[in-house]
Amino acid sequence: MTILVTGGAGYIGSHTCVSLLESRYTVVAMDDLSNSSEESLRRVGKITGKSMEFFKASVQDEDALSGIFDSHKIDCVIHFAGFKAVGESTQKPLEYYENNLASTIALAKAMSEHGCKRLIFSSSATVYDGRNIVAPFAESARTGNCTNPYGWTKFMNEQILRDWAASDPEVSVVNLRYFNPIGAHPSGLIGEDPRGIPNNLMPYISQVAVGRRDHLSVYGDDYDTKDGTGVRDYIHVMDLAEGHVKAVEYAMEHTGEAVFNLGTGTGYSVLEIVKAFEKASGVKIPYVITDRRPGDLAELYSDPSKSAEQLHWTAKRGLEEMCRDTWNWQKNNPNGYEGQRKDD
Ligand code: WQD
Repeated sequence: MTILVTGGAGYIGSHTCVSLLESRYTVVAMDDLSNSSEESLRRVGKITGKSMEFFKASVQDEDALSGIFDSHKIDCVIHFAGFKAVGESTQKPLEYYENNLASTIALAKAMSEHGCKRLIFSSSATVYDGRNIVAPFAESARTGNCTNPYGWTKFMNEQILRDWAASDPEVSVVNLRYFNPIGAHPSGLIGEDPRGIPNNLMPYISQVAVGRRDHLSVYGDDYDTKDGTGVRDYIHVMDLAEGHVKAVEYAMEHTGEAVFNLGTGTGYSVLEIVKAFEKASGVKIPYVITDRRPGDLAELYSDPSKSAEQLHWTAKRGLEEMCRDTWNWQKNNPNGYEGQRKDD
């Protein structure tokens, strides 16, 4: 079976390509490389010993999409491609809505036209109405009331795909709501490589550890949580990747739209993450407590029981492994894939 992976050169996309190849799927990757490096795909080949086709193109490029579907029998698509920086989305909302929604619509249209009716979508826990519900979040919890355009694009894309599935009985859509992906493949060959100053906690910590950043700013310690700092459901990116393989199996056996959380069900605070990373890396992480980041929630973690029951998937890797694998990637690739960074 052949799987098209849009955004396949990205952090979660590249790790998912590893799991797909190791599960004996044929993989075709597509990425415009606007926020990723083709080097990641070369290293996927090194890890798996398998090859895959790669097309450097935007998902909005309808000719490129038709070309891929005309020349390959694609059985299922996993759609990662999209802009994903929460802060940037508040500064550039129109670009985020155009890119993230238009690419999903172009992809679903091309799939319909070519008789490819199974899609796994990279959604996010950010679609939950976190200001009005209490963790743990089950898939049935209230969604919407998103705090940023990035979150709204995930919310809207889920609805676009839900309506597409409702319009065609052959369509199978699986919306996967990620919590907080961190970590790296244990080989240390692929990992998270954000452009510029990292928005997210773990890549910022690992860049402090490797000497690229002076210290961590802890965004507030006055939340109503175990130690006052923000609590999140961190999940190893390889557990997330394996969840996608299960979602492909589910999509092959079901039609209609389904939604699943990909999380561990356990919440860790910022300070617990710092401590765990220091233990795994042996490196002290200096930090200062600063004001809260606007839009942040106190506590956000999943109820993963539906994924266990229906996807037959649960996260297996613990926090120590997440930190150890993050450090193994970062210390072996202090400047990410591009070697000498140009954009810091
Ligand atoms: C985690 C915790 C911060 C950075 C977002 C998106 C989500 C997904 C993951 C894309 C919070 C604190 C962070 C720092 C800090 N994005 N923090 N100092 O905000 O839970 O989720 O990223 O796929 O959709 O919403 O993740 O890693 O930014 O923050 O103290 O330098 O770490 O306040 O409590 P978040 P995060």
